[in-house]
Amino acid sequence: MKKLIIAVTFGMLCSVTALVPFSAIASGPSVHLDKANNDLSDKESLKKGFKTYINYCLGCHQLQYQRYGRTFDDLGIEEADGIANYMYTGDKVGGHILNAMPKKEAAKWFGSAPPDLTLEARFRSPDWIYTYLRSFHIDENRPFGVNNTVFKDVGMPHVLQDLQGVSTIDEHGKLSPAMGGTLTAEEYDVVVRDLTNFLEYVGEPNKLERKALGYWVLAFLFFFFILTYFLKREYWKDVH
Ligand code: HEC
Repeated sequence: MKKLIIAVTFGMLCSVTALVPFSAIASGPSVHLDKANNDLSDKESLKKGFKTYINYCLGCHQLQYQRYGRTFDDLGIEEADGIANYMYTGDKVGGHILNAMPKKEAAKWFGSAPPDLTLEARFRSPDWIYTYLRSFHIDENRPFGVNNTVFKDVGMPHVLQDLQGVSTIDEHGKLSPAMGGTLTAEEYDVVVRDLTNFLEYVGEPNKLERKALGYWVLAFLFFFFILTYFLKREYWKDVH
């Protein structure tokens, strides 16, 4: 009996540990994260996020495990449209989403080289990315004049500053509303949500298919449930 209890307890502990997401361990000291509420089934949002990524992020951050062609297919972008509007680097459609930034020099310019972001949403979490891109603030002591409440002393400049504007931080660590950007706070949040959505997709492209498959499995189970129910009624009809 004792052995059984130990075995069951051990089993339960193992399954609980397996459920703790990797990101919860990787994100380090806890900072408050806002909910991204992004939606992987929203292709328009994914496309906008892809576009923003190409325009504002690819110059520094590669997506070395993601191919253009696959992205076009998954997001429903025609190849000609994709080549014209999403490919500026002269790569092949079948090629990975890369840039020409020299790693060594970049490390000198920014303090550390901009990491590849293919797996970033799995490493950190979508909520982390969403909050990070909305947490830059003025800090005259930093090389680019900005710091970040989610990633202290980050080497990245605030590349979306034109859109968001700039925030200041008070002595309690609270950010002021951003001023001087071309977007309102709500519009900026949407841009960042789309970008986060795209990065979650890139981290696990099969999620899109898996979700679609999941609905089929549920529909299948439901169908059999109904069938079994009528079968049961049929069997018991004569018993009563
Ligand atoms: C001018 C170059 C540059 C551009 C453009 C840029 N970044 Fe960065 N980014 C960096 C550098 C450098 C770091 C590494 C900072 C460090 O480790 O201190 C970084 C770090 C990050 C991180 C954190 C990585 C980690 O360690 O977990 C994320 C997320 C990120 N960038 C997202 C973006 C997104 C999204 C965009 C486009 C909106 C973008 N970056 C555009 C230079 C850039």
